[in-house]
Amino acid sequence: MHHFNYVADELYCENVPVATIAGAVGTPFYLYSHATLSHHFKTFDQAFGKVPHLVCFALKANSNLAVVRLLANLGGGADIVSGGELYRALKAGVSPDKIVYSGVGKRIDEIQDALRAGILMFNIESSQELLAINKIASRMKKKAHIALRVNPDVDPRTHPYISTGLKKNKFGIDIGRSLKEYREARGLSHVEIVGVSCHIGSQITEIAPFVDALVKLKDLIARLQADGIDIRYLDLGGGLGIRYDQEEPPHPFAYAEAIIKNMQDMDVTLILEPGRVIVGNAGALVTRVLYTKNNGSRHFLIIDAGMNDLARPSLYGSYHAIWPVRDKYAGEKIKADVVGPICESGDFLARDRELPDFAPGDLMAVMSAGAYGFSMSSNYNSRPRVAEVMVKGLEFSVIRRRETCQSLVRGEKVPDFLQGSQVK
Ligand code: LLP
Repeated sequence: MHHFNYVADELYCENVPVATIAGAVGTPFYLYSHATLSHHFKTFDQAFGKVPHLVCFALKANSNLAVVRLLANLGGGADIVSGGELYRALKAGVSPDKIVYSGVGKRIDEIQDALRAGILMFNIESSQELLAINKIASRMKKKAHIALRVNPDVDPRTHPYISTGLKKNKFGIDIGRSLKEYREARGLSHVEIVGVSCHIGSQITEIAPFVDALVKLKDLIARLQADGIDIRYLDLGGGLGIRYDQEEPPHPFAYAEAIIKNMQDMDVTLILEPGRVIVGNAGALVTRVLYTKNNGSRHFLIIDAGMNDLARPSLYGSYHAIWPVRDKYAGEKIKADVVGPICESGDFLARDRELPDFAPGDLMAVMSAGAYGFSMSSNYNSRPRVAEVMVKGLEFSVIRRRETCQSLVRGEKVPDFLQGSQVK
């Protein structure tokens, strides 16, 4: 469900014509719908209404302050993986006691900042990290609340780059060794065990892998409890998929029902870390066709957005639907590659796609781009990052200004030994 719809031939985001925004802010830009974001968050949250739970939005999917504030206003917490995401979550108004911190490579300064902020828990990914956190907490005279992120070795049946819960992946602590690690953690003076966590992958379109992981974690929790280790939080991570093309991911209600059914007799607060399912279909990348060309065998639509703006098609071969902003094409279709201005053949947003016969100047909306779109964008080819805009009803607001050429070189410096123009 989302609020990008045609009224006659004109694409609207909620009640604003997308072309109006393009006229005001230029292209390309990311466009998010407030109503869609809140609907997705509320639906997901309500789905778990029968059990004590906390929805910690995964900031990596979209870390814009306005997006995070909107979700925080609805009671959302945050799943973070860096000091930068901690900063953003706090700045957006997420309560520290609703922040969980995952990630295999937490730095000392990042751990210190999180301890100082008083986050809900660290999801520990290795025994060395456990010892490091204990040491840092001891120096700061604090007690770190921790969960071990266990790797349950289940196959999420998704793209290999985004599957994380297999034994061969770098994430988490092997579930078979986790009991031993928990016993070790219990002996440490400056950590307090509060939970168990896992995250098995992303864009998962079946319920079974989640249930498989839950069953394994449930068994671990029972063994921990028998050992006198009390678990208050069960963090099942994120990963629920969305529809980009023909996928049929489970509705959050079905996903929640299967989880709740398998949680009977468990006295824990459930934590979930959804990212994509909240923001993915709430956002689009709006871009303009610069040129078209035909090399005899292929038709190219050259647009003003590239792989630096939306990396997913180049990186994972992902599909994003492409819609005309003004559908004036009377149904005729051509087969085209939609390509950007970057100097790489991998710079495409769609390949061999049946599309309207776009002409130079036409606007297109690259759909389902709200998750891992802007947050993965870069300045490659010295391209300023694009603007982000949020629509609410009849209003729209620029929630991140387009970068300029000055922003590109901010922080750079030509040292004294390079001053002057003479070659010595
Ligand atoms: N929790 C942890 C610990 C994670 O690593 C992730 C995503 C999530 C939660 C949120 O997962 P989600 O609900 O969004 O599936 N760049 C890739 C996706 C990478 C996901 C990384 N981890 C993409 O564009 O598909």
